[in-house]
Amino acid sequence: MDLLSSLRQEIAGLDFAQALHKTVSFLRKNVAHYNWVGVYMLEGDELVLKAWDGPEATQHVRIPIGKGICGLAAREKRTVIVGDVSADSRYLACFPYTKSEIVVPIFKDSTVIGEIDIDSDALHAFTERDREFLEEVAALLGERYG
Ligand code: SME
Repeated sequence: MDLLSSLRQEIAGLDFAQALHKTVSFLRKNVAHYNWVGVYMLEGDELVLKAWDGPEATQHVRIPIGKGICGLAAREKRTVIVGDVSADSRYLACFPYTKSEIVVPIFKDSTVIGEIDIDSDALHAFTERDREFLEEVAALLGERYG
């Protein structure tokens, strides 16, 4: 079975909060270059961390929509891939070992309601395959919201 179908099966029957927790741990466990996985949900003009899985907690549990790669993806309503975070001045540093990042908005009825944020310890870890896969994961979460 492909990963998306497995995830769909794993979160069937869970409420939204449980589904977020299951999703972050599933992604981290099943994809080697997904070293830290979080889901932020939009509350007013802030992104609030609702679920995460990784080696350690981030200090960025609330991110204003104007800040970081997370804020950028929410503001511009598009997936943002940063191949080398050390070369991007918009990046908000969480962990010293993070080298690249992908942030994928979660939509409900064309409105951004949150996002999936993944850090990798490898440079240029995220490709178009990750974008396509994670946009499908985000769509799955969007369907399950509300
Ligand atoms: N790096 C993110 C902040 C969140 S941490 O990666 C968990 C950013 O630039 O918005």
